[in-house]
Amino acid sequence: MNKWTLILLLLTIFFSHVCAYKILVAFAYPGKSHSILGEGYVRHLLDAGHEVTYLTAIPYKKSHPNLRQIVAEGVIDKFEFSKSLDFQKVISNEVDLKDMYTMYRTMMIIANRSITHENLQNFLLDTNERFDLVVSEWLYHHMFSGFAAIYNCPYVWSSSMEPHPIVLSLIDEVGNPAYFPDHMSPVSPPFTFSERIGELWNVLYLYRVIWSLKDFEQQTYLDSFGPAAAKRGITLPPLEEVKYNASMILGNSHISSGEAQRLPINYVPIAGYHIQDEVPPLPENLQKVLDSAPHGVIYFSMGTMMKSSTMPMELKRDFLKIFSQLKQTVIWKLEEELTDIPKNVHMVQWAPQPSILAHPNCKLFVTHGGLLSTTETLHYGVPIIGIPLFADQFINVLRGVRKGFALQVDLGYDTPAKLKVAIDEILSNPKYAKKVKELSYIYHRRENKPGKTLVHWIEHVIETNGAPHLRSPALHVPLYQKLFLDLLALILLAVIVVVRMAKILIGSLTKTEVKKKRS
Ligand SMILES: *[C@@H]1O[C@H](CO)[C@@H](O)[C@H](O)[C@H]1NC(C)=O
Ligand SMILES: *[C@@H]1O[C@H](CO)[C@@H](O)[C@H](O)[C@H]1NC(C)=O
Repeated sequence: MNKWTLILLLLTIFFSHVCAYKILVAFAYPGKSHSILGEGYVRHLLDAGHEVTYLTAIPYKKSHPNLRQIVAEGVIDKFEFSKSLDFQKVISNEVDLKDMYTMYRTMMIIANRSITHENLQNFLLDTNERFDLVVSEWLYHHMFSGFAAIYNCPYVWSSSMEPHPIVLSLIDEVGNPAYFPDHMSPVSPPFTFSERIGELWNVLYLYRVIWSLKDFEQQTYLDSFGPAAAKRGITLPPLEEVKYNASMILGNSHISSGEAQRLPINYVPIAGYHIQDEVPPLPENLQKVLDSAPHGVIYFSMGTMMKSSTMPMELKRDFLKIFSQLKQTVIWKLEEELTDIPKNVHMVQWAPQPSILAHPNCKLFVTHGGLLSTTETLHYGVPIIGIPLFADQFINVLRGVRKGFALQVDLGYDTPAKLKVAIDEILSNPKYAKKVKELSYIYHRRENKPGKTLVHWIEHVIETNGAPHLRSPALHVPLYQKLFLDLLALILLAVIVVVRMAKILIGSLTKTEVKKKRS
């Protein structure tokens, strides 16, 4: 090593030390897909040399000298909500996973359970902890903005979905329902008259839900963060203020899968950041299955939220029956052993999804249409058949259908038969594969890789003390001012006054006329 290399090395160490920030990544929702998104932040921030504290329900498997994990496990075991994630119940319409009041309230309760978990409270009660920034996941509640209040530092929302009116109201204003669909609405602009009224009604309904849960959420927030605030001797600012104080939203969205919506400057789309640059190698057996399928492979996975044990056996048998009629090989991810498997079906309990989709022999992905799955299909350019189950899966699949790289099949006892028709269509007509390749090109052609964008904006927020220059003035303008209702009132008033005065004037003029005539 010569003198210059040594100096360079010392300089690098010096600067990397100076620029290492302490970042808290708060992603405590106990769901696999949410922890994959949380891990994306952890991985990119560690790679950029920062010190990361990760609040999670599912620990990150790789250890790193700059990573500390605070794990809140077991918060939804034996919880009503986890029981409603059930194929049987969804098919028979026993649970309504679209009811937003229940969704918002349930998510608040789960967040409270995570934050009041012993491990998290011990961590929060340690008054020596300091952070430069918090990344808080928004998931129908605003509880995780409380961390920024405790550590008196800026924070960034992470939104796991396409941008939608309610999440944008946190940094700018609620999107116009005339052309901006909610994340739960399976509609896509241009809207028909009734769709437009439906979207307006939906936004008003959501406002009512949020309003009616306001006190409950504030109480939950006090239960969660009150003790830590008291120990630090600070008064906790009201949640109604803290939740609107984010520096920006980093959204798990991208134009290739979403809509060309107008977005505030501090909403930055970073979909795909959870995918690693290098495709992890496949396990040997799967590599063999994928390499040796002369007609290609169909990959079938319904995600991780709904346990496959809740899928009726009749349905599983029917799936196997239609798969046996295909010439393609089917890789089916199911957390369960089945008997009498057809020769061309390969069952796995766990699947390295990105590595399977990345294989050139993977021709089709049959999915529930979660946003991670639809993002991965665009990343690797594989067409899909979506069988949506809940939440944003309906709109994700609908967008895929409208964009032309997907077909939709609804969940029910007749799903297997309909799936067979859809598989035949998508594999015999090359337009779906062509479309997904086009969108994949749009997806990849960005100025920067999403992970780099993520790190850039987080550092930017820290270095500019919460990036006040990015905040939208719309956030603090009341609706009546946006709609110029005050001006309208003024004009109405002026018209009334003028009309009144004219009447009085005409009245007195005619009176004098009459008087003149009489005299
Ligand atoms: C809002 O955030 C800024 C820093 O980003 C902080 O100084 C301020 O105290 C916060 N206000 C509230 C009400 O949390
Ligand atoms: C939040 O959790 C704590 C501790 O588990 C509990 O005492 C409190 O009632 C919960 N608050 C709400 C609003 O559910």
